Amino acid sequence: MLGQIQFDSVHLISLGGICAILYLFYFIIQTTRHELRIRRLGVRAPVLAQNPCTGLRWFVAAARAQLNHRLFEFFDDMFAAARGAPTGDDCVEVQVTRAGGQRYITTRDPGHVKAILAGQFAHFGKGKGFHDRWSPFLGDSIFTTDGPLWHDSRGMIRPMFIKDRVSDLVVFERWSAALVRQIERQRRGLVDCGAEKHGGGGGGGGGEGEGVVDIQSLFYRMTLDITTDFLLGAAVDSLSNPRDEFAEAFNEVQRLQMYLTMLGPFFRVVPRGRYKAGIRTIDRFVMPYIEAALKLPAAELEKRTSASSSEFTFLHSVARHTRDPKVLRDQIVAVLLAGRDTAAATLSWAVYQLSRYPAKVARLRAEILDTVGPAPHHAPSYETLKNMPYLRHVLSETLRMYPAVPYNLRVALEDTAIPSRDGQGPPIAVLKDDVVVYSTLSMQRRRDLYPQCREGGHFADPALFEPERWENWTPKPWTYVPFNGGRGSASGKTLR
Ligand code: HEM
Repeated sequence: MLGQIQFDSVHLISLGGICAILYLFYFIIQTTRHELRIRRLGVRAPVLAQNPCTGLRWFVAAARAQLNHRLFEFFDDMFAAARGAPTGDDCVEVQVTRAGGQRYITTRDPGHVKAILAGQFAHFGKGKGFHDRWSPFLGDSIFTTDGPLWHDSRGMIRPMFIKDRVSDLVVFERWSAALVRQIERQRRGLVDCGAEKHGGGGGGGGGEGEGVVDIQSLFYRMTLDITTDFLLGAAVDSLSNPRDEFAEAFNEVQRLQMYLTMLGPFFRVVPRGRYKAGIRTIDRFVMPYIEAALKLPAAELEKRTSASSSEFTFLHSVARHTRDPKVLRDQIVAVLLAGRDTAAATLSWAVYQLSRYPAKVARLRAEILDTVGPAPHHAPSYETLKNMPYLRHVLSETLRMYPAVPYNLRVALEDTAIPSRDGQGPPIAVLKDDVVVYSTLSMQRRRDLYPQCREGGHFADPALFEPERWENWTPKPWTYVPFNGGRGSASGKTLR
């Protein structure tokens, strides 16, 4: 009996030993093949982590930075950790598994941004991992798909971005007027602005009574009202109802989605009960509009989507391309996300910066009064908006300091490489399925990408909010890409 037990344990130990040796072989072969693939393409960016233990630190730090609104500092820490590396400190790598696993390459190099968004556009996409993580929220929409599905989405969305549509400012005028009314109410202390919540970060306002306006909250609510009105033909009116169920669900889903993204391969630790419940609330709100649009006879749909129709909405336009309610839902939620936060964040930062410079406010106000005329009799037209250079400079400067999409990512769809620093030296190898994160925020804050600040104020310190710098300065190509600039962006040149 004892002999039998001893035999079994010896047997088990040797079996375990064989497995360990086999795994070691597998590990060595995989790692060697991985290294050889990298060497064939170029070199590695400075490696900050190479296993789950050291890698986890960076993903937790990223999620914490997201939570505390410290993304810029997080990216700065990453690049600082590579200071002095031969390939420079503008691109770093974090690998979570050693045996040939997926790598996260983070960059603030304009050459890399150009390669990803233009030169090597076909080598990069959203990839399966991104699709799986975002599709519960955004479905198979323009932001989660590659190839033919992405092209189809662009085709459906394109009619909304032609000049006739973007120059139709009726919806904007309606909700700007509602915003002004709310500002007035908060200023007079008629509502407690501190009690209101908004998406996209930042705490609420002070709620200190008369005179205090939580403008960020109001901007997030206004852009939600504009986008729902523009997309569905019916606004949630969150300016009047800050506690609207749909608005709260949308904010919560977005917040959780950012953690799912920031945690990279560790995303499963995020509990998803509230996330799924939020998505159900969003769908409950959107689906009745879609069902109503699908019930419209073809002739009525045609009439509503004619260029002159005052009832034109994004939903009716897309419903001419597809009768599939899921496709319609996905496109609507995606454009809602795209249009709402970006605009609200930009407006909030612009006002934040302007509030520190009364002389710039006075200049902007003078330009508005000269071009548009005083309220309430005048509303700006598309042409008058285009004719306000100082307004444009204020927005360009805001997007330079606070790009509304501060980082983004693409997955390599095949083995490729991105250029070395300044195009000298071997390129940085990117293997199929590697994730390349590019931070426009970090890149646009790189002092070395700006002209030398000269005495006498020829070029103001890039750390300062200075719309005037745009009067006689054009950024070097690919160093300023708040709209991503290339084929990847509806807000850039190609979709419109
Ligand atoms: C300050 C305002 C805005 C900024 C800074 C901005 C920025 C961006 C950026 C960086 C992308 C690229 C995302 C990617 O490729 O991963 C993008 C794409 C897109 N944006 Fe905007 N956006 C703004 C406003 C809007 C608005 C108001 C809408 C619509 C109502 C919109 C609709 C879209 C769409 C549909 C795409 C996807 C384009 C594609 O993949 O081809 N954006 N935007």
